[in-house]
Amino acid sequence: MTERIVVVGSINRDVVLGVEQLPIPGETVLGRSLGTYNGGKGANQAVAAARLGRSVAMVGRVGDDRAGVASREALTAEGIDARGVRVDRKAVTGSAMILVDDDGENSIVVVPGANGRLSAKDVVACSDAIGAAAVTLVQLEVPMEAVAEAVRLSRGTVVLNAAPARPIPAEVMRAVDVIVVNRSELAGLCADLEAESTKEIASQVERLRCPGAVVVTVGSDGAMVVDNGDIVHVPAVNVAVVDTTGAGDAFCGAVADALAGGDTLERAVGWAVLVGAAAATKVGAQVALPTRSEVKAMLKR
Ligand code: RIB
Repeated sequence: MTERIVVVGSINRDVVLGVEQLPIPGETVLGRSLGTYNGGKGANQAVAAARLGRSVAMVGRVGDDRAGVASREALTAEGIDARGVRVDRKAVTGSAMILVDDDGENSIVVVPGANGRLSAKDVVACSDAIGAAAVTLVQLEVPMEAVAEAVRLSRGTVVLNAAPARPIPAEVMRAVDVIVVNRSELAGLCADLEAESTKEIASQVERLRCPGAVVVTVGSDGAMVVDNGDIVHVPAVNVAVVDTTGAGDAFCGAVADALAGGDTLERAVGWAVLVGAAAATKVGAQVALPTRSEVKAMLKR
């Protein structure tokens, strides 16, 4: 597999707290566990695609600190080309506080740190790699100017995971081939409530005015592919869910992996549903991402 994926995105240190139930505003709850992991939507998606066997390069920023060193080492250990990850002496590495409840649901707060200083210039410095990539994969945990530059420089397929949801400029929207969102992100983009039915999902997708395809992940129901007015439902697989934190990133990495390999979007989403499900069976984001053979082994069980 030589087709390359370039991921332009965030790199975080995740502090994961296990709780029986997510606290409501004003409530204090006792936690059950505490762990520290490598994370960040960008880094997780890069690792997801690399574990599936794809050649991956990462563009991002970390601080000049231990978390930054650990994050870069983790990317390199996965065989990811991390030369595009700049060390920022004026910022700390991004961090995330993640609460995971007994049902595997999570709440996340991200403090961007160095991710918030990723510039268009940093992205231009990697223009050769981006221009040669089969797939450019971006998320919204880094400044929009960096995202806009990445999609502008891309000559391959552009996949945007619109997470966390925020307004997407028209020029970015026009350059994107596939947007991946979950239902709450879709609602956020439309300034609406979460869609409950396929019809509501279709109507919110229409309001995005995205010329490309939109993939909406719908948790235990799998995913919907909305393309040119057609909607295809890709069903989920049944797994024992432990932590859904890395599932969305596993999904996006797998979509990029399959598209880089020449699959149709529908087949790519079918593969991504399986990879996302496998990631949800373990604690943590990056550590939980499966290899290709682990996904296949899960199917035989
Ligand atoms: O999608 C999960 C990721 O979101 C975590 O790793 C955390 O760092 C945040 O970026």
